[in-house]
Amino acid sequence: MSSTAARPIRPIAVIGGTGPAGMGLALRWAHAGETIIIGSRDAQRAQAAAEAIQRKAGNQARVSGMENSAACSAADILMLTVPFEGQAALLKQLKNSMTPGSILIDATVPLAAAVGGRASRPLGVWQGSAAQQAAELVPHGVSVVAAFHNLSAELLNREEPLDCDVIVCSDDSDAAQLTRELAAKIPGVRAIDGGRLENARIVENITALLIGLNIRHKGHAGIRITGLPPAAYR
Ligand SMILES: NC(=O)c1ccc[n+]([C@@H]2O[C@H](COP(=O)([O-])OP(=O)(O)OC[C@H]3O[C@@H](n4cnc5c(N)ncnc54)[C@H](OP(=O)(O)O)[C@@H]3O)[C@@H](O)[C@H]2O)c1
Repeated sequence: MSSTAARPIRPIAVIGGTGPAGMGLALRWAHAGETIIIGSRDAQRAQAAAEAIQRKAGNQARVSGMENSAACSAADILMLTVPFEGQAALLKQLKNSMTPGSILIDATVPLAAAVGGRASRPLGVWQGSAAQQAAELVPHGVSVVAAFHNLSAELLNREEPLDCDVIVCSDDSDAAQLTRELAAKIPGVRAIDGGRLENARIVENITALLIGLNIRHKGHAGIRITGLPPAAYR
Protein backbone atom coordinates (compact mmCIF):
# COMPACT_ATOMS: atom_id res chain seq x y z
CA MET A 1 0.00 0.00 0.00
CA SER A 2 1.31 3.47 -0.81
CA SER A 3 2.20 5.79 2.08
CA THR A 4 -0.46 8.27 0.96
CA ALA A 5 -3.32 5.81 0.42
CA ALA A 6 -4.50 6.10 4.03
CA ARG A 7 -4.60 9.90 4.05
CA PRO A 8 -8.02 11.44 4.75
CA ILE A 9 -9.79 13.08 1.81
CA ARG A 10 -8.47 16.60 1.52
CA PRO A 11 -9.69 19.35 -0.76
CA ILE A 12 -7.53 20.49 -3.64
CA ALA A 13 -7.43 24.28 -4.02
CA VAL A 14 -6.79 25.26 -7.64
CA ILE A 15 -5.26 28.73 -7.41
CA GLY A 16 -5.94 30.61 -10.63
CA GLY A 17 -8.50 27.91 -11.31
CA THR A 18 -10.67 30.10 -13.55
CA GLY A 19 -8.34 29.65 -16.55
CA PRO A 20 -8.31 26.70 -18.95
CA ALA A 21 -5.47 24.80 -17.25
CA GLY A 22 -6.94 25.05 -13.74
CA MET A 23 -10.50 24.38 -14.88
CA GLY A 24 -9.39 21.35 -16.88
CA LEU A 25 -7.49 19.79 -13.97
CA ALA A 26 -10.37 20.61 -11.61
CA LEU A 27 -12.87 18.98 -13.99
CA ARG A 28 -10.84 15.79 -14.26
CA TRP A 29 -10.30 15.55 -10.49
CA ALA A 30 -13.96 16.35 -9.78
CA HIS A 31 -14.86 13.44 -12.08
CA ALA A 32 -12.43 11.27 -10.08
CA GLY A 33 -14.23 12.11 -6.81
CA GLU A 34 -11.80 14.69 -5.42
CA THR A 35 -13.09 17.73 -3.51
CA ILE A 36 -12.18 20.88 -5.43
CA ILE A 37 -11.98 24.53 -4.42
CA ILE A 38 -11.53 26.91 -7.34
CA GLY A 39 -9.47 29.96 -6.39
CA SER A 40 -9.52 33.33 -8.12
CA ARG A 41 -8.60 36.93 -7.37
CA ASP A 42 -12.35 37.48 -7.47
CA ALA A 43 -14.67 35.28 -5.36
CA GLN A 44 -17.60 35.66 -7.77
CA ARG A 45 -15.45 34.57 -10.72
CA ALA A 46 -14.34 31.56 -8.68
CA GLN A 47 -17.94 30.63 -7.88
CA ALA A 48 -18.98 30.96 -11.54
CA ALA A 49 -16.10 28.69 -12.61
CA ALA A 50 -16.97 26.20 -9.86
CA GLU A 51 -20.60 26.12 -11.05
CA ALA A 52 -19.49 25.54 -14.65
CA ILE A 53 -17.31 22.59 -13.55
CA GLN A 54 -20.10 21.24 -11.37
CA ARG A 55 -22.49 21.30 -14.35
CA LYS A 56 -20.02 19.33 -16.47
CA ALA A 57 -18.94 16.88 -13.74
CA GLY A 58 -22.43 16.14 -12.44
CA ASN A 59 -24.34 16.40 -9.15
CA GLN A 60 -22.08 14.04 -7.24
CA ALA A 61 -19.06 16.33 -7.84
CA ARG A 62 -17.83 18.47 -4.94
CA VAL A 63 -16.71 21.84 -6.35
CA SER A 64 -16.79 25.27 -4.70
CA GLY A 65 -15.22 28.64 -5.44
CA MET A 66 -13.41 31.16 -3.23
CA GLU A 67 -11.01 34.09 -3.42
CA ASN A 68 -7.44 32.72 -3.70
CA SER A 69 -6.31 33.34 -0.11
CA ALA A 70 -9.49 31.77 1.34
CA ALA A 71 -9.00 28.78 -0.98
CA CYS A 72 -5.39 28.44 0.22
CA SER A 73 -6.45 28.50 3.87
CA ALA A 74 -9.09 25.84 3.26
CA ALA A 75 -6.80 23.24 1.65
CA ASP A 76 -3.40 21.69 2.06
CA ILE A 77 -3.04 20.58 -1.54
CA LEU A 78 -2.60 23.71 -3.64
CA MET A 79 -2.54 23.50 -7.43
CA LEU A 80 -1.07 26.68 -8.93
CA THR A 81 -2.25 27.53 -12.46
CA VAL A 82 -1.48 31.19 -13.11
CA PRO A 83 0.62 32.83 -15.85
CA PHE A 84 4.33 33.21 -15.06
CA GLU A 85 4.02 37.00 -14.95
CA GLY A 86 1.63 36.72 -12.00
CA GLN A 87 3.25 33.80 -10.16
CA ALA A 88 5.75 35.54 -7.85
CA ALA A 89 3.48 38.40 -6.76
CA LEU A 90 0.59 36.02 -6.08
CA LEU A 91 2.75 33.63 -4.02
CA LYS A 92 4.03 36.54 -1.91
CA GLN A 93 0.43 37.64 -1.35
CA LEU A 94 -0.69 34.11 -0.39
CA LYS A 95 2.25 33.33 1.91
CA ASN A 96 0.32 33.93 5.13
CA SER A 97 -2.60 31.79 3.94
CA MET A 98 -0.50 28.65 3.40
CA THR A 99 -0.32 26.11 6.19
CA PRO A 100 2.98 24.34 6.99
CA GLY A 101 2.74 20.77 5.71
CA SER A 102 0.89 21.90 2.58
CA ILE A 103 1.92 20.86 -0.91
CA LEU A 104 2.09 23.42 -3.70
CA ILE A 105 1.92 21.79 -7.14
CA ASP A 106 3.21 24.26 -9.69
CA ALA A 107 2.30 24.03 -13.40
CA THR A 108 3.68 27.44 -14.33
CA VAL A 109 5.49 27.62 -17.66
CA PRO A 110 7.81 30.63 -18.01
CA LEU A 111 7.28 31.70 -21.59
CA ALA A 112 8.77 34.67 -23.43
CA ALA A 113 5.17 35.78 -24.00
CA ALA A 114 5.30 37.08 -20.40
CA VAL A 115 7.68 39.83 -21.56
CA GLY A 116 6.20 40.45 -25.00
CA GLY A 117 7.98 37.61 -26.80
CA ARG A 118 6.80 34.38 -28.37
CA ALA A 119 4.82 31.69 -26.53
CA SER A 120 6.99 29.11 -28.28
CA ARG A 121 10.16 30.38 -26.54
CA PRO A 122 11.01 29.63 -22.91
CA LEU A 123 11.99 32.43 -20.59
CA GLY A 124 15.11 32.09 -18.43
CA VAL A 125 14.36 32.19 -14.69
CA TRP A 126 17.14 33.17 -12.27
CA GLN A 127 16.32 30.31 -9.89
CA GLY A 128 16.41 27.78 -12.76
CA SER A 129 12.68 27.27 -13.25
CA ALA A 130 9.30 28.71 -12.30
CA ALA A 131 8.91 25.86 -9.81
CA GLN A 132 12.22 26.70 -8.11
CA GLN A 133 11.13 30.33 -7.96
CA ALA A 134 7.95 29.13 -6.24
CA ALA A 135 10.03 27.09 -3.77
CA GLU A 136 11.87 30.27 -2.76
CA LEU A 137 8.61 32.10 -2.12
CA VAL A 138 6.49 29.62 -0.16
CA PRO A 139 6.72 29.57 3.65
CA HIS A 140 8.96 27.09 5.46
CA GLY A 141 7.29 23.68 5.62
CA VAL A 142 5.43 23.96 2.31
CA SER A 143 6.70 21.48 -0.30
CA VAL A 144 6.79 22.40 -3.97
CA VAL A 145 6.14 19.87 -6.72
CA ALA A 146 6.44 20.64 -10.44
CA ALA A 147 3.89 18.82 -12.63
CA PHE A 148 1.24 19.04 -15.37
CA HIS A 149 3.21 21.44 -17.63
CA ASN A 150 2.89 19.26 -20.71
CA LEU A 151 -0.87 18.55 -20.54
CA SER A 152 -3.00 20.44 -23.04
CA ALA A 153 -5.68 22.47 -21.25
CA GLU A 154 -7.82 22.23 -24.37
CA LEU A 155 -7.81 18.43 -24.08
CA LEU A 156 -8.23 18.47 -20.29
CA ASN A 157 -11.50 20.33 -20.76
CA ARG A 158 -12.89 17.68 -23.12
CA GLU A 159 -14.48 14.42 -22.06
CA GLU A 160 -12.15 11.95 -23.79
CA PRO A 161 -8.99 10.40 -22.25
CA LEU A 162 -5.71 12.23 -22.76
CA ASP A 163 -2.63 10.77 -24.46
CA CYS A 164 0.19 12.26 -22.38
CA ASP A 165 2.66 11.47 -19.62
CA VAL A 166 3.10 13.78 -16.63
CA ILE A 167 6.65 14.15 -15.34
CA VAL A 168 6.65 15.00 -11.64
CA CYS A 169 9.69 16.71 -10.05
CA SER A 170 10.16 17.49 -6.38
CA ASP A 171 12.67 17.37 -3.54
CA ASP A 172 9.91 15.94 -1.28
CA SER A 173 9.27 12.29 -2.19
CA ASP A 174 5.93 12.05 -0.32
CA ALA A 175 4.60 15.19 -2.02
CA ALA A 176 5.77 13.86 -5.38
CA GLN A 177 4.04 10.52 -4.77
CA LEU A 178 0.76 12.22 -3.88
CA THR A 179 1.03 14.31 -7.04
CA ARG A 180 1.69 11.21 -9.16
CA GLU A 181 -1.44 9.63 -7.65
CA LEU A 182 -3.47 12.73 -8.61
CA ALA A 183 -2.01 12.70 -12.12
CA ALA A 184 -2.86 9.02 -12.57
CA LYS A 185 -6.52 9.84 -11.80
CA ILE A 186 -6.74 11.61 -15.17
CA PRO A 187 -7.73 9.05 -17.83
CA GLY A 188 -4.94 8.47 -20.33
CA VAL A 189 -2.24 10.02 -18.15
CA ARG A 190 0.75 8.12 -16.81
CA ALA A 191 2.76 9.81 -14.06
CA ILE A 192 6.53 9.44 -13.97
CA ASP A 193 8.96 10.34 -11.19
CA GLY A 194 11.13 13.01 -12.83
CA GLY A 195 13.55 13.39 -9.93
CA ARG A 196 14.53 16.56 -8.13
CA LEU A 197 12.81 19.94 -8.46
CA GLU A 198 15.78 21.26 -10.46
CA ASN A 199 14.61 19.07 -13.36
CA ALA A 200 11.46 21.21 -13.61
CA ARG A 201 13.46 23.56 -15.85
CA ILE A 202 13.61 20.88 -18.55
CA VAL A 203 9.94 19.87 -18.20
CA GLU A 204 8.79 23.51 -18.32
CA ASN A 205 10.88 24.11 -21.45
CA ILE A 206 9.29 21.12 -23.22
CA THR A 207 5.99 23.03 -23.12
CA ALA A 208 7.47 25.85 -25.22
CA LEU A 209 8.42 23.21 -27.79
CA LEU A 210 4.91 21.69 -27.66
CA ILE A 211 3.36 25.14 -28.22
CA GLY A 212 5.60 25.60 -31.27
CA LEU A 213 4.55 22.18 -32.58
CA ASN A 214 0.88 23.05 -32.01
CA ILE A 215 1.29 26.25 -34.03
CA ARG A 216 3.23 24.48 -36.81
CA HIS A 217 0.98 21.44 -37.10
CA LYS A 218 -2.31 22.80 -35.71
CA GLY A 219 -2.76 20.22 -32.95
CA HIS A 220 -2.64 19.62 -29.19
CA ALA A 221 0.71 17.91 -28.65
CA GLY A 222 1.63 15.91 -25.56
CA ILE A 223 4.55 13.69 -24.59
CA ARG A 224 5.08 9.98 -24.00
CA ILE A 225 8.25 8.59 -22.38
CA THR A 226 9.08 5.11 -23.64
CA GLY A 227 11.46 2.37 -22.60
CA LEU A 228 11.10 2.50 -18.81
CA PRO A 229 10.06 -0.55 -16.76
CA PRO A 230 6.30 -0.72 -16.01
CA ALA A 231 6.88 0.26 -12.37
CA ALA A 232 8.15 3.67 -13.50
CA TYR A 233 4.74 4.64 -14.83
CA ARG A 234 2.36 5.77 -12.07
N1 LIG B 1 -3.13 26.39 -21.14
C1 LIG B 1 -2.43 25.27 -21.20
O1 LIG B 1 -2.64 24.41 -22.10
C2 LIG B 1 -1.41 24.97 -20.14
C3 LIG B 1 -0.87 23.69 -20.06
C4 LIG B 1 0.07 23.42 -19.07
C5 LIG B 1 0.49 24.43 -18.22
N2 LIG B 1 -0.04 25.68 -18.33
C6 LIG B 1 0.42 26.73 -17.42
O2 LIG B 1 -0.57 26.83 -16.42
C7 LIG B 1 -0.73 28.21 -16.05
C8 LIG B 1 -2.18 28.62 -16.30
O3 LIG B 1 -2.47 28.47 -17.67
P1 LIG B 1 -3.85 29.07 -18.27
O4 LIG B 1 -3.78 28.88 -19.74
O5 LIG B 1 -5.02 28.53 -17.51
O6 LIG B 1 -3.61 30.61 -17.91
P2 LIG B 1 -4.56 31.91 -17.90
O7 LIG B 1 -5.89 31.56 -18.41
O8 LIG B 1 -3.81 33.02 -18.57
O9 LIG B 1 -4.61 32.26 -16.34
C9 LIG B 1 -5.23 31.43 -15.41
C10 LIG B 1 -5.86 32.27 -14.31
O10 LIG B 1 -4.83 32.95 -13.60
C11 LIG B 1 -5.36 34.15 -13.06
N3 LIG B 1 -4.41 35.23 -13.35
C12 LIG B 1 -4.13 35.78 -14.56
N4 LIG B 1 -3.19 36.72 -14.45
C13 LIG B 1 -2.87 36.77 -13.13
C14 LIG B 1 -1.97 37.59 -12.37
N5 LIG B 1 -1.19 38.52 -12.94
N6 LIG B 1 -1.91 37.38 -11.03
C15 LIG B 1 -2.69 36.45 -10.43
N7 LIG B 1 -3.56 35.67 -11.11
C16 LIG B 1 -3.66 35.84 -12.44
C17 LIG B 1 -6.70 34.40 -13.72
O11 LIG B 1 -7.71 34.10 -12.78
P3 LIG B 1 -8.53 35.23 -12.00
O12 LIG B 1 -8.57 36.43 -12.90
O13 LIG B 1 -9.88 34.58 -11.84
O14 LIG B 1 -7.80 35.45 -10.72
C18 LIG B 1 -6.74 33.39 -14.84
O15 LIG B 1 -8.05 32.90 -15.11
C19 LIG B 1 0.30 29.00 -16.88
O16 LIG B 1 1.46 29.21 -16.13
C20 LIG B 1 0.56 28.08 -18.06
O17 LIG B 1 1.86 28.28 -18.59
C21 LIG B 1 -0.98 25.96 -19.27
